Amino acid sequence: MLTTKHVLLVLITISLGHVASAAEDIAKKSNCMACHAVDKKAIGPSFNDIGRKYQGAPQALEYLAKKTVEGSIGVWGAIPMPPSKAAKPDDIKAVIAWILLKSELPQP
Ligand code: HEC
Repeated sequence: MLTTKHVLLVLITISLGHVASAAEDIAKKSNCMACHAVDKKAIGPSFNDIGRKYQGAPQALEYLAKKTVEGSIGVWGAIPMPPSKAAKPDDIKAVIAWILLKSELPQP
């Protein structure tokens, strides 16, 4: 079981330049990009908007990982996110850690 600290340490250790492509690959592999895009709204909210909304929120990683595994409705609108049964929980955590980490970095 990965803790927040582990996930962040792993992400920071893979040099920051590689984080985005590594995390995006996991997101693609886990089918997240079928409904999400990084910087624009698709079927689901953009990863940048999610990062901004939960920036600095305590337990955001655990909360959002659980929401993603179990599914979500009503936070961003009427379109539901179905439970992500096929994706590995650790992969989901890595993608969400990237989304949250991105929101802490200066935007280009
Ligand atoms: C079938 C489309 C679909 C897929 C696949 C999908 N999402 Fe979503 N996602 C959505 C929608 C729609 C919402 C908005 C749900 C709501 O309003 O509560 C959402 C919301 C979210 C949220 C915010 C939840 C909240 O409580 O604010 C996160 C984080 C998220 N998705 C991450 C992911 C990740 C990571 C994956 C891949 C493992 C993924 N999603 C796959 C459609 C999808």
